[in-house]
Amino acid sequence: MGMPGLGRVFLATCVGSFFVLVLYFQSITKPVALHSAIGDSRLGKSRRNPLQTLYSGDQHAELSAAQRSLRGRRELLEEACLSQTRKRRVLSPDDLRHLIVDDKHSLIYCYVPKVACTNWKRVLMVLTGDGRHSDPLAIPANEAHVAGNLRTLSEFPVAEINQRLRSYLKFVFVREPFERLVSAYRNKFTRSYNTAFHKRYGTKIIRRHRADPRPEALQKGDDVSFQEFVRYLVDPRTQREEPLNEHWERVHSLCHPCLIHYDVVGKYETLEPDARAVLALAGAEGLVRFPTSGKSTRTDGDMAARFFKNISPFYQKKLFNLYRMDFLLFNYSTPEYLRTR
Ligand SMILES: *[C@@H]1O[C@H](CO)[C@@H](O)[C@H](O)[C@H]1NC(C)=O
Repeated sequence: MGMPGLGRVFLATCVGSFFVLVLYFQSITKPVALHSAIGDSRLGKSRRNPLQTLYSGDQHAELSAAQRSLRGRRELLEEACLSQTRKRRVLSPDDLRHLIVDDKHSLIYCYVPKVACTNWKRVLMVLTGDGRHSDPLAIPANEAHVAGNLRTLSEFPVAEINQRLRSYLKFVFVREPFERLVSAYRNKFTRSYNTAFHKRYGTKIIRRHRADPRPEALQKGDDVSFQEFVRYLVDPRTQREEPLNEHWERVHSLCHPCLIHYDVVGKYETLEPDARAVLALAGAEGLVRFPTSGKSTRTDGDMAARFFKNISPFYQKKLFNLYRMDFLLFNYSTPEYLRTR
């Protein structure tokens, strides 16, 4: 009863702030109108906003195949969101920790681990830097992941978050969900140097999902099988205790693609042209080149198929349900190798 008045004012301020956030998410149903509205003010010239060119309805003839496919993807995402999500949730700034901001080029990138995110972070360090870096690949991978080298949207006050969400080019890169999952498993559990993951997750997975574990395995957690990893993922306790680690958390939960209206959904399977398209839209193609690594990003369906061979149909089905939204929202078809029917 000390200071009810002050308490109420404070509460009202908080509620008001979140309300702004809700308004933003509910108001955007027509991205074309939105982007034509901000086109000129953003560039300060009467130049056509590249996004306007990409998404305005009367430009069909001029659209390149690449632009058409980006647009198709976004429309599919929007429709899938409408049919899949019933309830609207309010985002809090904490939900925006994966959204990296480039104020210089009005860009927002939602990073998804195991989908070329190191290279995107490097590119964004070049773009946001003061000219210290010019070659993305000259930036060591670990430096790209240092928190604080790049700003995230969650660091800004709510009004500034909304302003950026409204006017910036927002993009995300996704990958076939099980390819990504197998990549995360191989990287975190089959490499001897990843001792932090072995200790943090491996020991727990072995304790819970292995009958008669050796004391050494319990202590080191360095020999988790894919089967055990899958059991851990679908165990109800796992998500009750804490959010999934970002390396295997679903894009749907990391980037909120039904609440944040991404302008471009890039795919790992078409990384190079999609990355070029994003940089062109940002007007940054002359500033930096997206690193083209030697290794192919083509989907190696055989790899995932090999890992899933030892997973029973029961667990395959549970796992598919866990990642179902990522399959649906990003138009990935159910893998042929699954035995869930
Ligand atoms: C969705 O996937 C199917 C099958 O791979 C493909 O033919 C279609 O073009 C895709 N749709 C969009 C909008 O990308």
